[in-house]
Amino acid sequence: MSKHDSGVLAVNGGPKVRATPMPPRRLFGSEEKRAAMRVFDKAIETGNAFSYNGPEQKAYEAEFAAFHGGGYAVAVNSGTNAIFCALGGLQIDVAREVVVPPVTDNGGIMPAPMLNLVPVPADCAPGFFNTGPEQIEKVLSKRTAAIIVAHIAGEPADMDPIMELARARRIPVIEDCAQAHGARYKGRLVGAIGDVAAFSTMCGKLHATGAQGGMVYTRDEELIWRVKRFSDRGKPFNLKNATENVVMGLNCNQNDLAAAIGRAQLKKLPQVIAKRRRLAGKIIEGLKGLEAVSLGRELPDTEGVYWFLRVHVDTSKLTVNKARFASAVAAEGLPVEERYTQASPKRPWFLERQTYGRSGCPWTCPLYRGPRQPLLELPDADEVLDSHFVIYFHENYGAREVRDIVAALAKVERAFLKRPHPKCAR
Ligand SMILES: Cc1ncc(COP(=O)(O)O)c(C=O)c1O
Repeated sequence: MSKHDSGVLAVNGGPKVRATPMPPRRLFGSEEKRAAMRVFDKAIETGNAFSYNGPEQKAYEAEFAAFHGGGYAVAVNSGTNAIFCALGGLQIDVAREVVVPPVTDNGGIMPAPMLNLVPVPADCAPGFFNTGPEQIEKVLSKRTAAIIVAHIAGEPADMDPIMELARARRIPVIEDCAQAHGARYKGRLVGAIGDVAAFSTMCGKLHATGAQGGMVYTRDEELIWRVKRFSDRGKPFNLKNATENVVMGLNCNQNDLAAAIGRAQLKKLPQVIAKRRRLAGKIIEGLKGLEAVSLGRELPDTEGVYWFLRVHVDTSKLTVNKARFASAVAAEGLPVEERYTQASPKRPWFLERQTYGRSGCPWTCPLYRGPRQPLLELPDADEVLDSHFVIYFHENYGAREVRDIVAALAKVERAFLKRPHPKCAR
């Protein structure tokens, strides 16, 4: 028993397992600073402001695509707009449906109604934050025009059967890789499996372009040009005979300063991923002796990148519910979110159709032939959110943080197990 295991939980006035804050992530260092300074130096030297679609952005797009095994990339200004531009590039008629993830950020869903497309959430695969092929199949209709699959917490969704299902119906699949840069499914990088992928590169993600940013990636050259045009007000990129704007779109451009930071970050990404996997592996190992707590089950033959730690709590073995368990872990000094909050289909904007004034569009659009209210039967999403909590995690943790995470979970479990732990019963 460690010194923290006096048995008295911090929530009851005992000593905390972790009395000092977790270390900061230190995402940006001298490499990113130098990259940004180079952009400024050039602007000062030439007298020309740095811009967008410039040499840094083009190089970043090429390097990002190369990281994913080739293909094409368009840098944009957020992950939300990466989804928006991926959908925009697909040129879907209004009032069609888009299957959306059951657990995701709002930015992974809102682009669909912004294009007057009806978002239809598929449930979670049982035990997972991600959806699965059966859950998607259940919500497909003759109106389905695209499927968005998110790899939440950096855990790959079950892409092969999803792609099989989608290909058979000629429905394009957008992979939302905002939380999963570098994760692998059966050896393949996520983002390179679906028809097109959207990444967020905001400052909390695995790699970043500064405060905000995003990337659209695909192996389809024709599609990437449609994405590019859509992302920049319909300018006629790669169209020989056009000189004027050819399609409606917004200004979702990235810029050369952000891209320069992204290039420096991309070089670090393999180490970031390796470190997260190493640390998470040690935590998984450390939790092996526990009875009610474990890291969330991952699909076989996948390699996640642990954007956060998804912690499963088997409350049938405990005297308390998950909320009380998670607050006791938080009181021990760990950065905990009691219930993953990004379950956006259940947010007010969605439930109350707060979209275009009071119109209720796209659900009420006269061209739409489906249900007029959002469909929200998501029992497995409810179950998985009820049985898991989140521990924030990053690659600048070390041996001490691993030890504290394991010790705090063990201490709280010991206090709340229904039957005494065999070691304590002696
Ligand atoms: C799964 C998912 N999709 C989309 C987004 C939106 O990305 P951004 O915040 O860069 O707009 C996020 C952001 O956290 C996300 O986690």
